[in-house]
Amino acid sequence: MAIQRLDKILSNQGNLSRKEGKVLIWQGKVTVNGVVVKAPDCKVDTQRDQVTVDGRPLSIREHIYLMLHKPQGVVSATEDTRFPTVVDLVPPQLRRKGLFPAGRLDKDTEGFVLITDDGVFAHRILAPKSHLPKRYLAVLDHPITPDLAGEFAKGVDLGGEDQCSPAQLHIVENGPQPQVEVTIYEGMYHQIKRMFERFGYRVIYLKRLQIGGLPLDPQLPLGACRELDDRELEQMTKGYLD
Ligand code: URA
Repeated sequence: MAIQRLDKILSNQGNLSRKEGKVLIWQGKVTVNGVVVKAPDCKVDTQRDQVTVDGRPLSIREHIYLMLHKPQGVVSATEDTRFPTVVDLVPPQLRRKGLFPAGRLDKDTEGFVLITDDGVFAHRILAPKSHLPKRYLAVLDHPITPDLAGEFAKGVDLGGEDQCSPAQLHIVENGPQPQVEVTIYEGMYHQIKRMFERFGYRVIYLKRLQIGGLPLDPQLPLGACRELDDRELEQMTKGYLD
């Protein structure tokens, strides 16, 4: 909903309780379009107005979409008892209730993870029929034979119900530990590792470089996270979703 009460926005988007939000407003720490507002029931247009808390801009879009450059050792979950999660890496100014990773990377995989609070959008991009491409860089444990690209293009049978769609394999550098780029169209469990394993290769490093039409921002440091704008969201999904 575009028009919302200021205290509601602070509690949803600012990840505060309604009471904590009200206190910040009464203390004069919140501005709307540059003006200090002391009324918690002030109506704010989430599509137009600018809100700051303690001088820091607060993202008040109805939903938030974040690009995380996931490091190894972090799990794609919202909570974990043993390891840090991708949601733990979201900085306080981008935190809000209901954030979750839209799609998973293995703990030892690096790269682009989309984090959002928009369940409908996540469902659309993760639906099997979406066929949103995901591009990865993989490093393998021994030199590859060129016929592997043809095998991937046929669609690798991983056994059981797991039949992959045709995938693209591009050799970046062949050698003792070849680097390849692979584009897949689903998100099956350990999919890339299992595709290579099927032909006797072990993946020793894996990084997701792109989701749909949107590459991982090369300026985004490992472990960092930033908000995507509407143009980037469109770039990610354009032509891939119904
Ligand atoms: N394929 C894998 O094997 N692992 C990932 O993390 C992503 C794709």
